[in-house]
Amino acid sequence: MERLRWKRTDYCGELRETDIDREVVVAGWVQRERDLGSLLFLDLRDTTGIVQAVVRDDQEIYKTAKSLGREYVVMAKGQVARREAPNKEMPTGEIEILLQELQILNVSETPPIYIQDDDNAQESLRLRYRYLDLRKGSLQKRLRTRAKICRITRDYLDTHRFTEVETPMLTKPTPEGARDYLVPSRVNPGAFYALPQSPQLFKQLLMVSGLDRYYQLAKCFRDEDLRANRQPEFTQIDIEMSFAEEKEVMELAEGLTRTLFKEVKEIDLPDPFPVLRYEEAMNRFGTDKPDLRFAMELQTITEEVAESGFRVFAEAECVRALRVEDGAAHYSRKALDKLTEKAKTYGAKGLVWMKWAEEVQSPVAKFLTEGDLKKIQDKTGVQNGDLLLIVADEEEVSAIALGQLRLQVARDLDRIDASKTEALWVTEFPLFEYDKEDGRFYAKHHPFTHPHPDDIEKMESDPASVRALAYDIVINGEEAGGGSVRIHDRELQERMFRVLGLREEEVQQKFGFMTEAFTFGAPPHAGIAFGLDRLVMELTDTDNIRDVIAFPKTQSATCLMTEAPGKVSEEQLQELGISCTFEEITNDSTERSASCENPES
Ligand code: AMO
Ligand code: AMP
Repeated sequence: MERLRWKRTDYCGELRETDIDREVVVAGWVQRERDLGSLLFLDLRDTTGIVQAVVRDDQEIYKTAKSLGREYVVMAKGQVARREAPNKEMPTGEIEILLQELQILNVSETPPIYIQDDDNAQESLRLRYRYLDLRKGSLQKRLRTRAKICRITRDYLDTHRFTEVETPMLTKPTPEGARDYLVPSRVNPGAFYALPQSPQLFKQLLMVSGLDRYYQLAKCFRDEDLRANRQPEFTQIDIEMSFAEEKEVMELAEGLTRTLFKEVKEIDLPDPFPVLRYEEAMNRFGTDKPDLRFAMELQTITEEVAESGFRVFAEAECVRALRVEDGAAHYSRKALDKLTEKAKTYGAKGLVWMKWAEEVQSPVAKFLTEGDLKKIQDKTGVQNGDLLLIVADEEEVSAIALGQLRLQVARDLDRIDASKTEALWVTEFPLFEYDKEDGRFYAKHHPFTHPHPDDIEKMESDPASVRALAYDIVINGEEAGGGSVRIHDRELQERMFRVLGLREEEVQQKFGFMTEAFTFGAPPHAGIAFGLDRLVMELTDTDNIRDVIAFPKTQSATCLMTEAPGKVSEEQLQELGISCTFEEITNDSTERSASCENPES
């Protein structure tokens, strides 16, 4: 190994006019080389940026310089000089380094991707060579902002008397709505640990311990079917507070959010954030995470069309309409068919569209009288030139389908003001969620969530109507975090498990340690967890979660670089007492890469 000949004095991207005449040593990678015959220009790049270096053809190092290729690693010594032709685009564009000495530290094969932000390389290729992709300034900047966000978070929580505590990664399999990653225990044959889906149980037990206020930047693992912007492992800013109810948690979480947006993006968020009850959010926006950067609200017109001649409308439990101002001209028949297909993927049986004009255009126009149209117009305010989209169905289906169309239409018509940041709370979620297929209720958030005190008596008789003391923080239509007041009373907790259909022994076996802890003086407590990755996305203006994680996984939970998950040897399995019934795991990276793209976009 050849040792470094000099000590670095400066970073490439930080040299400025004030450095002119200084002798400097920089180190980094060759971004590109231009040979103009008598002069050879090198762009040298390090983690701070790029600086131009020049070598004359009468210099001894000219030959060495000429032999350099892209991504060679060098150390270079020279004098900073004013550039004859400044480059206003570059922060270092006023100066260049007149090279005197050059040391090649390593060579490089021609890289499969260009190390520049707009390289247009396929994402699968970028993930396969993630270490090269990470040489890009934009990605490094995001990782730095991520580190800054963690630092600000720690500072904020430390000053609010929180203690950071690490909770175990090897825990007990306890389903919390999503699926566990399991880890076999060699010394306990046949037994498995689970990687935590969240530190929920442990943080509550820390409250029983009297720690008072806990937080953790916690790695969480969920073996779910991955939708866009979910990763199988991700990070939460996990928070729990004793002797606190929803108001205190919301104030604290808001304060942290405001501090982050102010310090990272110079954005002043409102104090306090607006609050929407779940029911209101569903009725007005068709979602529990409304994007408030644009208006366009749903309207319920069930009564207005109850007498109409179109049976689908007259007979439906709920008819909702979405008025798209000036939208009629934008949508062709084909585009409307696409909207209809989209509505159907969210459970709608169909979609009625109306292009409003003197003579309303719609496939169902013939079923509607002047009087029907007048009623619809009075309720929705629809005007000539507008498009009206209508779904008739069950309450929830009509809301969800139109809520998705609301987003689609806003994107189609470019009505989302990306310069805005809209944060809000959604509260009073239902405590339970009914699963038609399984024919039973599940906890909507998790089974430790406290029911709304006014609804507790209905837990058994009418579970669907019970509200939870739960709250989500929503930023620009993304769920940035969620939390709740917890049950801290053994009887109520066991009642909750019963409503969820867990048998006594099951409760004892899965959560016995928890309900037992509640018998030893558990304080009232409440908490929240932010999705750190999602916060970083909002704060660094990207809609791709893989942009904010150094080594992300694809949508099929694989790592294209290391090819994880992988096979293990027969001996290893034997030692663990495991036999594998699958024949062959595919290790073909092209097959795997096919699923890394976001199907939503
Ligand atoms: P929840 O399951 O709502 O709550 O998770 C909290 C936040 O974590 C983020 N998140 C994810 N981010 C990336 N990839 C994923 N697969 C993923 N899943 C969730 C979301 C979400 O809002 N223990 C409770 C919190 C509590 O009650 O205090 C919990 O885990 O931004
Ligand atoms: P059909 O009577 O099934 O031919 O439907 C006539 C029109 O009504 C089509 O444009 C369908 O997409 C639409 N449609 C059917 N069912 C619904 C529904 N439940 N809600 C809204 N539109 C519907």
